[in-house]
Amino acid sequence: MHTCLLFSDLHITAPGETIIGLDPADRFAGALDQALTTHPEARHLLILGDLTHTGHPEEYARLRTLLADCPLPVTATLGNHDNRAAYFAAFPEAAQDGDGFAQAALDIGPCRVLLLDTLDESGAHPLHAGYLCDTRLDWLSARLAEAPDRPTLVAMHHPPVRTGFDGMDRIRLVNDTALMALLNDHPQVRQLVCGHVHRAISGNRAGLAWSILKSPCHQMPMLLGAEGSGHSTDDPGGYGIALLTPDTMILHAEDVAPARPVAHSSHS
Ligand SMILES: [Fe+2]
Ligand SMILES: [Fe+2]
Repeated sequence: MHTCLLFSDLHITAPGETIIGLDPADRFAGALDQALTTHPEARHLLILGDLTHTGHPEEYARLRTLLADCPLPVTATLGNHDNRAAYFAAFPEAAQDGDGFAQAALDIGPCRVLLLDTLDESGAHPLHAGYLCDTRLDWLSARLAEAPDRPTLVAMHHPPVRTGFDGMDRIRLVNDTALMALLNDHPQVRQLVCGHVHRAISGNRAGLAWSILKSPCHQMPMLLGAEGSGHSTDDPGGYGIALLTPDTMILHAEDVAPARPVAHSSHS
């Protein structure tokens, strides 16, 4: 069994800037510390986009500092709050697919993890929605074709599925049908994992299981049907733990514990 830590939606800001009163850097640092302490067996850290809040170089520089002491290999992809050029300028050694996108194929034990870059900077689709152009889909198709026997986890920022949050559903992956058709042609794909919604959600589309991760920072409140994409609450942050085995992929969703122990009374 091989363990990967899964984070999404860090939304790192410049020093002193907060989101609904929360410091995203503090929240990520605390969550990562908890995850590393709890899972010393982890082999890899995957981060599924919205690395920063505005895509500014100062934010990527701050993220680089936050990851400097991480003992695990880190592979990241991008979300709608990112800027691809600023990301690669700050992380020139970061994984990319040869066409300039933050996509990667990782063989971990007997399994394969494919990270897809759904950031759309074309301006051709709704602002903040995700898109996989033909170049990125062709890369995915080749990575799937070359390893048909490796149980595969596909990770990306924008979900290719609806969640019931109407405003967020409007900015899901635009070409979700094309992606699902490709994935459904490859039975080794066992599981999808995404971010973007800032809430732990799971489901199934056309036989393929999917999960969405919490953010370590701000969360989506339970407002099913709500329009807009700016709803946030300061519920506990969270992250995921993937346990990869040849016949099963297990995804845990873990909340970040409060910084101070919660006082409670004794009933003895
Ligand atoms: Fe986000
Ligand atoms: Fe997002």
